[in-house]
Amino acid sequence: MSTDKAAFLSIYKQIESDLLSDISNLPGLSSELKRQLIEYYSTCLPYTVPGGKMTRGLTVIKGVEVLKGRALTEEEYKHAAILGWQVEWLQAFFLVADDIMDASITRRGQPCWYQRPNVTQDNAINDALILENMIYQTLRRHFKSHPSYVALLELFIDTTFRTEIGQHIDTNGTPYAEGKRAALDLSRFTLDRYRGCVRYKTSYYSFYLSCALALAYCGYDQDSDEGKQLYQKAEDVCMRLGEYFQIQDDVLDAYAPPEVLGKIGTDIEDAKCSWLVCKALEMVNDDQKQILVNHYGRHDAEGVQKVKELYKELKLEELFHEYEEEQKKKCDELIAKIEPESFRELFTFLLGKIYKRQK
Ligand code: FPP
Ligand code: MG
Repeated sequence: MSTDKAAFLSIYKQIESDLLSDISNLPGLSSELKRQLIEYYSTCLPYTVPGGKMTRGLTVIKGVEVLKGRALTEEEYKHAAILGWQVEWLQAFFLVADDIMDASITRRGQPCWYQRPNVTQDNAINDALILENMIYQTLRRHFKSHPSYVALLELFIDTTFRTEIGQHIDTNGTPYAEGKRAALDLSRFTLDRYRGCVRYKTSYYSFYLSCALALAYCGYDQDSDEGKQLYQKAEDVCMRLGEYFQIQDDVLDAYAPPEVLGKIGTDIEDAKCSWLVCKALEMVNDDQKQILVNHYGRHDAEGVQKVKELYKELKLEELFHEYEEEQKKKCDELIAKIEPESFRELFTFLLGKIYKRQK
């Protein structure tokens, strides 16, 4: 029941309806202007927020249930689902902006929001910021007098900052000589940079945030001895799960069929510090390295194909399958050490969602 998607989506509807009412109630706007705003945002919200796998949101509900050790009351379920949706709203904010930055074409099986003819980049940047603001409107509406309100706010603020730092590392992986896209500097593509980037751009918001929100909602204080340990354990496991998840994302970017993945990979064209290129650089001879120097980071289909052929020659997909099995084992071992034992189920749930995922 707790991770039932239909029940979760019915809470989405209520949150969306409240946010649209807020727009209708803005003072000093004509009814025609309000009509236009409502028409625009009643398209934007369902287009950008609910169409994903919803794992981040459902994890908050699972977390609260695991921590309470029993089925949730109606109020607890609603609270946990609202918090879960705020993680999904945060993700919508990031993805709308990230797709502009990465010049992506599709997301979740449809054109990226900024690609829509009535939207364009100017609106989409503003919409990303509006999506972010909506998190705080909703948190205030439902949690203003809850004892965890400040802790919940701080988790969103800190996680957003960390993700933005990760995004900076991600978009600055490739210094070009004098700003020109001529000489690609491959020296920054190291696993050390990769790990730092992924920890910040992915792991905190995709894994740790949902677990930490569940802890905060259930009254665990980061400054108490018991609380500190639980948050720390959640962080340790989530950093490993997050790295594994992003390595999958990088491999799927190159290998998964876009109709399954819901998006067209752009990592090679965008010269991303992907796990694949970091691994390739550890293995290449001089001739093979030249292929990367000549073709990585260019928006040219033939060049992208050459890079993919090199990945094939280096058997990177096979290397990934070995890595995946190793990670599964390491995550299982780490989870098996978590105390109290009841807390383990949350991380087993997360690992189950990502092991061998195809999208
Ligand atoms: C996706 O990584 C990256 C993120 C979800 C983080 C994005 C963070 C921002 C855009 C910061 C936004 C801040 C402002 C103020 C605009 P990816 O590109 O590897 O994933 P993908 O393959 O799904 O695109
Ligand atoms: Mg992207």
